[in-house]
Amino acid sequence: MTKTTEQDRVLIFDTTLRDGEQSPGATMTHDEKLEIASMLDEMGVDIIEAGFPIASEGDFEAVRDIAAQARNAVICGLARANFKDIDRCWEAVRHAKRPRIHTFIGTSPLHRAIPNLTMDEMAERIHDTVSHARNLCDNVQWSPMDATRTEFDYLCRVIEIAIKAGATTINIPDTVGYTAPRESADLIRRLIETVPGADEVIFATHCHNDLGMATANALAAVEAGARQIECTINGLGERAGNTALEEVVMALRVRNDIMPYRTGIDTTKIMNISRRVAAVSGFPVQYNKAIVGKNAFAHESGIHQDGMLKNAETFEIMRPEDIGLAATNLVMGKHSGRAALRAKLRDLGYDLADNQLNDVFVRFKALADRKKEVYDDDLIALMTDTTANLADDHLQVRHLRVVCGTEGPQTAELTLAIDGAEKSVTATGDGPVDATFTAIKQLFPHEARLALYQVHAVTEGTDAQATVSVRLEEGGKIVTGQSADTDTVVASAKAYVSALNNLIVRRAKTKPAEAAASA
Ligand code: KIV
Ligand code: ZN
Repeated sequence: MTKTTEQDRVLIFDTTLRDGEQSPGATMTHDEKLEIASMLDEMGVDIIEAGFPIASEGDFEAVRDIAAQARNAVICGLARANFKDIDRCWEAVRHAKRPRIHTFIGTSPLHRAIPNLTMDEMAERIHDTVSHARNLCDNVQWSPMDATRTEFDYLCRVIEIAIKAGATTINIPDTVGYTAPRESADLIRRLIETVPGADEVIFATHCHNDLGMATANALAAVEAGARQIECTINGLGERAGNTALEEVVMALRVRNDIMPYRTGIDTTKIMNISRRVAAVSGFPVQYNKAIVGKNAFAHESGIHQDGMLKNAETFEIMRPEDIGLAATNLVMGKHSGRAALRAKLRDLGYDLADNQLNDVFVRFKALADRKKEVYDDDLIALMTDTTANLADDHLQVRHLRVVCGTEGPQTAELTLAIDGAEKSVTATGDGPVDATFTAIKQLFPHEARLALYQVHAVTEGTDAQATVSVRLEEGGKIVTGQSADTDTVVASAKAYVSALNNLIVRRAKTKPAEAAASA
């Protein structure tokens, strides 16, 4: 058995902000990363992998600021097997209360061919880089990337070298999601039995979901002796994603009878962070996703509903409250008061100060005037709407009228307030959204590239709100905007303008002089 304070305690290592964010299109802004990190810390994640500091200035700053704000979690940064990466990583994490350097190199035949190193040369590189990391930080994780396709003897040899050089955690990545549960368990068990010094370190499992087995593989590894699971919220990650945090945590909780291991996660925080990660990453959660999918607790068939009414345990193996889902989807309407809204939002995980509640209440009333029934998801959409603080914004949508028809082009008549001065334009485009975005560009010329435009219907019905996410990219920096409205084109315009407002703020932070000229 590997080293750990308690044999049944499994550490949760969250890599949403590194492996998850690395997924094409899932880029998050600096503030979003800080917000997610603080939610992870709050929910009891043991180790947060905050990013890859050498990758860019933005990554470095995010890891550094997350390290500075962290209260309990160990903050980890990723580094390739070279001194420059490791030094930069240390620079970023060093101010954390509990820093960790995570360094890796691909050890399988295919990965060894990339740096063109012989087995001996690679072994030497591992010794030198892990020793270097350990001289800087007393908490060092080492990963042989593509471990599950590395020759077993060579894997044992390099793990032994890493342990001797000072690694305190050995992570076994299934980089391409190739392994299966029995093999995952066998590998961990054999490594622990074979590698000298294995009992001095913690073994971790890092699985990808290419064959849909990431959760099963991670749990099998735990049964074989791994005591750290690497995972992401909603299973976010490249290709088919990583092991989903909510799945392993709830599996260990619900089936504790056959998997007697504990995590330190407050599971009632799961739903809220799942929603937030979906919103900021622009990766919606599939309806039938285990634990956090919209339908995970919905019982629509007659037989199920009947059974549920008699005894919830008939079809439910966990309670919605366990993951922070309100027990009832109590519908709100235009007669609902401030107190009811506050209580409802609290159930949904939002504890608001009075001034925040006032602002949301005004927007709730406006929505309830247009929409007979306001559901939980509508309220969540209101809460994630980044166009909430209109008074402070440089750009504000004042008027929008779009003319559509079977014969294009569509026309958008738009008025924006730009730092208080109203400007109007009429633009045409290939569809109402294109016409609207063209109008915005004419009124506020900019070079930022539209990196993502996503529409999501919040509830069912033709009066449903649409949540629109817009992501803009300028000089390698990413900003996002989100808005919800029963009119998709209005939500689109507001989301785009919100992203531009964030861009203006970001320019001001990075280049004050330039921002003054363009704003
Ligand atoms: O999947 C992988 O191999 C990784 C490593 C960098 C740990 O993410
Ligand atoms: Zn990975």
